[in-house]
Amino acid sequence: MVEFEQKLRGNIAVSVNPLGRKQQVLNHIDHVKSKGTFEGPKKVLIIGASSSYGLATRISLAFGAGADTIGVSYEKGPKSERNLGTAGWYNNIAFKEAAGKEGLIAKNFVQDAFSTETKQEVIDYIKNEFGGKVDLVVYSLASGRRTDPETGETYTSSIKAIGEPVVGPNINMQKEDYYTETLEPATEQEIEDTIKVMGGEDWELWLKALKEADVLTEGVLTTNYSYLGSELNHPYYGHGTLGRAKADCDEKADTINELLADINGKAQIVVATAVTTKASSVIPFFPVYCIGLYKVMSEKGTHETPIMHMDRIYRDMIYGDKPEYDEEGRLRPDSWELDSDTQAQTKALIGELNEENFNTDLTAYALFYKEFSNLSGFMVDGFVEKEVTIDELKAMEY
Ligand code: NAI
Repeated sequence: MVEFEQKLRGNIAVSVNPLGRKQQVLNHIDHVKSKGTFEGPKKVLIIGASSSYGLATRISLAFGAGADTIGVSYEKGPKSERNLGTAGWYNNIAFKEAAGKEGLIAKNFVQDAFSTETKQEVIDYIKNEFGGKVDLVVYSLASGRRTDPETGETYTSSIKAIGEPVVGPNINMQKEDYYTETLEPATEQEIEDTIKVMGGEDWELWLKALKEADVLTEGVLTTNYSYLGSELNHPYYGHGTLGRAKADCDEKADTINELLADINGKAQIVVATAVTTKASSVIPFFPVYCIGLYKVMSEKGTHETPIMHMDRIYRDMIYGDKPEYDEEGRLRPDSWELDSDTQAQTKALIGELNEENFNTDLTAYALFYKEFSNLSGFMVDGFVEKEVTIDELKAMEY
């Protein structure tokens, strides 16, 4: 029997409970179903579909709007009892099983989204087995590395400040420690490389390839998740390397809009709220912002998890009648996070934090830790322990 034990290295989860992940996917499906159905897209391609925002999008659109979905992700399967693979691997399996039960197509491509081969394989599948066209393309990748398909060169992204170093508090969840960290400014090369990985170039390449292959419907929509944040995190996010990459996505949205003009398509930047994910937990200082923000938002009744946020975005905003856009045409579901009273209270709360109180009821540390644990299948509501062998896990198909 496989033992499931939660293990962390700093703020990185290094173990997974596959059965816990299945329960969490089912919990998210229940959330969407509890809201009823909505008129939405029917044939969706999600790039970065296996966890957090991408997975939440997929669950909302499949179980809320009855969409068939193709998910592209980069995950690892089980090798041995000590190496069970990644959480996203099991999310793909759990999603596909649940979608299949409802008669929905759920095709998973577990391979490098940045490569030309993956784009071609997805296009061939759309043409031959998915009805020929997609009406929504969601881009939800978060990656530390990207190999340029033209040159073969591999780029690594950096989470760094620009110009001045940033000094501030951070949390180590493995040690339950609160400490001061210094974030060095990035070099010009690091800024360029981060844009290459997390900017909009690959998004544009996907849309070019899909358009050229004529697999996009008239009026197709493509969404890309951005983050702007507030003055509380601008020094290390918005004004740092990741902020530059997000600004590049804004520019690429304009290029994609031109590309799709003749089929009345649209590229939509969605500025999403801060949530606990594999990607966000390793952004320096960000967990401290989250434990303050979530406390304030929980008290106001506005705190959201990825499934709540994405379901609201698609159900109420994009395919509903409550969209909020900014002057640049970006969708702004982050207005709850950026509410001025929420920000003022968060700022005041973070200002009070120290090693003694960061993990007490003063903050949402417990909630942040639980949400983080849930990502790898631990502390999941409704989870019932069951025995499973490594061979059974290996036999599961995505
Ligand atoms: P995540 O780490 O949970 O998910 C990333 C997804 O990308 C996974 O499905 C992973 O398998 C896939 N992926 C990574 N490299 C890949 C590759 N080479 N080929 C195929 N798939 C690959 O990330 P998260 O946090 O859901 O981020 C998604 C997007 O949302 C990012 O653009 C992020 O900046 C944005 N966002 C995140 C916020 C947050 O607080 N977490 C806030 C606002 C926006």
